[in-house]
Amino acid sequence: MEDVQERLALAIRLAREAGAIQRERYESELVVETKRTDVDLVTDVDRACEEAVVRGIRAARPGDGILAEEGGGDDAAGTGWRWVIDPLDGTTNYAHGYPCFCVSIGVERDGRPELGVIYNPILDELYHALRGGGAFRNARPIRVSQQRDLTRCLFATGFAYDRHANPGANLRHFEGFLRRGRGVRRDGSAALDLAAIACGRFDGYWELDLKPWDVTAGTLLVEEAGGRVTDLSGTPGRTDGAAVVASNGLIHDDMLAVLRGE
Ligand code: IPD
Ligand code: CA
Ligand code: CA
Repeated sequence: MEDVQERLALAIRLAREAGAIQRERYESELVVETKRTDVDLVTDVDRACEEAVVRGIRAARPGDGILAEEGGGDDAAGTGWRWVIDPLDGTTNYAHGYPCFCVSIGVERDGRPELGVIYNPILDELYHALRGGGAFRNARPIRVSQQRDLTRCLFATGFAYDRHANPGANLRHFEGFLRRGRGVRRDGSAALDLAAIACGRFDGYWELDLKPWDVTAGTLLVEEAGGRVTDLSGTPGRTDGAAVVASNGLIHDDMLAVLRGE
């Protein structure tokens, strides 16, 4: 238990450190480059945040494995512990000065998420979850919503970076939820979308083609807040992000039906 608590304290400290970099550089001149596609961006702030987090982990926990989005880690998990880091989730928002982005840090032990921290530096909201220990925002317990009726639900989603070439599947799902719920948001930060499910701001969220660093911390947060996270078939426990459906639990089966086109 001590090991987990110490890593949680470290994750919180490093999330705040990276968040401070994001706040300081927000709306300043950025170096913006593209990655796999023309709409997949990376900025010098993504890199600076990753460097700060990775440096902090290496100093305090040199044997732990690190999977970090911009490639700054090494995936060799000598201790069985692995840090899964999105140093800046919401890069497109960040590059456009839209204030919706965060740092996301998940920590797994032997492949199973044990703790998660998500920090929104603009709202100064720090979310954390410990397996079996609950979910919190700024140290206060949070819960998912209690809504059962899809017509009263607010949903969120996102679109993958290959959407210019392949806009297909998610547009159909988007239309399905648009026709069923109160609204669908596309806010541009998967980790904050999951945090919003955990604290009841959104009732349901789905996205196709995410990566482990987008979902590791947020998935634990939703589960510890009483929600449910699965793939499209309803199977829990996936950490690759390939297809994520997150909800308050009560509407989950109805969401899966909408995603099947029913
Ligand atoms: C992206 C955001 C976005 C989601 C994309 C992600 P990034 O992460 O979470 O909301 O729709 O699929 O890749 O690139 O800003 O870290
Ligand atoms: Ca991301
Ligand atoms: Ca990112």
